[in-house]
Amino acid sequence: MGQDAASRHVPVMRDRCVDLMAPALQREGAVAIDGTLGMGGHTEALLERCPQARVVGIDRDEQAIALASERLARFGDRFIAHHATYDDMAGALAAAGAESADAILLDLGVSSLQIDEPERGFSYAQDAPLDMRMDRSETRNAADLLREEDERELARILKVYGEERFAPRIARAIVRRRQTTPLTRSTELADLVLEAMPAAARHAPGGHPAKRTFQALRIAVNRELEVLDRAVPAAIEAVGVGGRVVIMSYHSLEDRLVKHAFAVGSEVDVPPGLPVVPDEAQPYLRLLTRGAEKASPEEAESNPRSKPVRLRAAERLRPTPPSRRRRDA
Ligand SMILES: C[S@@+](CC[C@H](N)C(=O)[O-])C[C@H]1O[C@@H](n2cnc3c(N)ncnc32)[C@H](O)[C@@H]1O
Repeated sequence: MGQDAASRHVPVMRDRCVDLMAPALQREGAVAIDGTLGMGGHTEALLERCPQARVVGIDRDEQAIALASERLARFGDRFIAHHATYDDMAGALAAAGAESADAILLDLGVSSLQIDEPERGFSYAQDAPLDMRMDRSETRNAADLLREEDERELARILKVYGEERFAPRIARAIVRRRQTTPLTRSTELADLVLEAMPAAARHAPGGHPAKRTFQALRIAVNRELEVLDRAVPAAIEAVGVGGRVVIMSYHSLEDRLVKHAFAVGSEVDVPPGLPVVPDEAQPYLRLLTRGAEKASPEEAESNPRSKPVRLRAAERLRPTPPSRRRRDA
């Protein structure tokens, strides 16, 4: 494509993220983890604003790691790349030789690079193989999923991950089609979704009717919610006291997980009416955002990717009492 990383993806709420993380990154040798490095836009802004800090950038996409590493080479050993999923906070800390992090950022979802490269198969608008793997060293792609899952599981995926009203009809159409020809191309799937819908729903507002099906498949292929469900508590555990966690979600399923984990940590964990709150029941997080913050109208206008964003942030007040720690975190 011949474009550099900086021009391929505009970082969402970049200045707000840096404002929220910077207070925790002022000491010499402070460590930040950018769990969704992408094209490195947020990491670059952090490295510029916090000259004492180093950043470990995680991404499961090797192409993103390569492009961002090129962009960030001028920061020398203040930037460390780590190819992994973002629940591997322990691996990221080990890569930096640190025991805990001072700030962690997760900017969930796909990058413009992934959407814009037709051969990655994320877009219903361009004809391409049905791939959708963020990490191309993984074996199972979207075409495999459409071939292997039974009708019930396909309908569940479309309903839960895509909030698709017509999930059973689309799942039935997929199974019927694959009895004769396997679905291998993005436009074949987009056309099939359109045909499976009642005529009145084909022109409903809210974008192309296949949008929700493509989102659902992407989430399933990359096991996005399973990884996120482990990653949020792992991020909370990986920051030291005074450390900050900032998470940007792009759909309600992601935001619900984040909201819940932050709520659990920021509330007093005792039945109401108890006269004294024991230490282990005290909150171990302080919320830094009131509810979820959105992009400004100006940003939403100039960068449509920022429209659905929900940003939540929290600061760690104390270690998590063992009784309240998740076993897998
Ligand atoms: C929205 S983009 C991040 C953009 C980045 N903040 C920037 O400024 O360029 C999300 C990135 O996270 C990566 N990603 C998504 N899920 C991931 C996961 N579970 N583990 C690691 N990386 C993931 C994607 O490959 C993508 O590059």
